[in-house]
Amino acid sequence: MHPLTSRRLFFLLLYFSACRSQELGSRMEKLLLVRSARQVVTVTNDPQVTRLVGQEMKSVTVKEGAVSIVVDNGGFIEFIGSDDEVAEKYRNVKFSKEINASNYVVLPGFIDTHTHPVWAGDRVNEFAMKLAGATYLDIHASGGGIFFTVEKTKNATDQELADSLVERLSKMLRSGTTTVECKSGYGLDLENEIRLLKVIESVRGKTAVDISSTYCGAHAVPKGLTAEEATIDILERQIPELKNLIETKTLNVENIDVFCEKGVFTTEQSKRILEAGKQIGLRVNFHGDELYPTKSAEMGASIGATAISHLEEISEQGIADMAANGSVAVILPTTAYTMRLKPPPVRRMIEAGVAVALGTDFNPNAFCYAMPMVMNLACVTLGMSMPEALIAATLNAAASLGRSNTHGSITRGKFADFLLVRAPRWEHIIYQMGAHEDLIDFVVKNGKVVFEK
Ligand code: NIG
Ligand code: FE
Repeated sequence: MHPLTSRRLFFLLLYFSACRSQELGSRMEKLLLVRSARQVVTVTNDPQVTRLVGQEMKSVTVKEGAVSIVVDNGGFIEFIGSDDEVAEKYRNVKFSKEINASNYVVLPGFIDTHTHPVWAGDRVNEFAMKLAGATYLDIHASGGGIFFTVEKTKNATDQELADSLVERLSKMLRSGTTTVECKSGYGLDLENEIRLLKVIESVRGKTAVDISSTYCGAHAVPKGLTAEEATIDILERQIPELKNLIETKTLNVENIDVFCEKGVFTTEQSKRILEAGKQIGLRVNFHGDELYPTKSAEMGASIGATAISHLEEISEQGIADMAANGSVAVILPTTAYTMRLKPPPVRRMIEAGVAVALGTDFNPNAFCYAMPMVMNLACVTLGMSMPEALIAATLNAAASLGRSNTHGSITRGKFADFLLVRAPRWEHIIYQMGAHEDLIDFVVKNGKVVFEK
């Protein structure tokens, strides 16, 4: 062969192999590598496990010592292993982002199961009244409480409500929450309830936090109506309109809630409303057995409730029924603490095999954004252990929103939602009361860093 031709051939081959490796290189690019973490609290390694109950809540699965996590381009967890294993397995892979986590422990993003975040006006004056001895229902009956907030919310513009919602969600995110349940409920009539649900809809994409939206039109009986009249309005006007808006994809609402309580909606009215919601495809997820025993848990279990919140006054039968039906108990330690209620019988629920979850109950009556505070309260005031509290704030919380196939643990195939906490061990996020903003340096949502201190 002519020397010139062979040189040409050599360069041609070189060119093709460069193209090929570039092609391989781009194919072999992944979204994120977190390496050298001190601990990764996976909660469970088994993607089939979608809740933990009873004895299973005694411990969480933790990978110790120089651990790496690989996130694929879809934002899903692809691999968790030792630094050495990952270095070997991914030696040809380029990562869009790498985080050296040698000073960190990695925890799943928290899932806040119960919040009322769309409202205007605060209720700091009522906090003073409660400290002086007024009860929640005293204030409610005198036209304060939810009614005060409904009035303030009515006078705020959509933009003001949306802006404050985005700000609240960003504070939750900084406290480690990556998924949040958001209720309407300060509208109480058709127009205003739909308006609040639209405000929730409008902030998707303006926040990194995932939202599970809840219609809570039966949050209080509007002034001038009886509970029965309000129930009929909800059944005949509000739910049909909601159905329309869901079908036309104007709203993406997943859950239905009712305040089932003495002096608010009776257990029988609550049941009718919740069943109508279920009929249009919503998950039943409601307030029950909070201030007075009303057999909410028994009723909820009988209609296949996904979750029931509060439960300070749950009966033994209610506990048994929830365990048998698989309804998740959403425990809200901030409310019991702020209102000095009898603590919900969490230990009994865990013993009986009820899946227990936690939430902030963020609202003008219980002003708390932070799941780490909630876990601390759950341990100190309700007698939960730290593993139980963490499971309740992650995997079981995801179960209460029907999302535990995809969220709630650092498990292969789930969304890469996690936190990097600057501490020697994971328990510090619960133990260091109120210090979560110091401890959480990174929040990762769907494989992207959405908060970095
Ligand atoms: O979960 N109990 C009803 N709903 C809220 C309180 C809402 C409010 O007081 O504004 C709760 O505690
Ligand atoms: Fe609530």
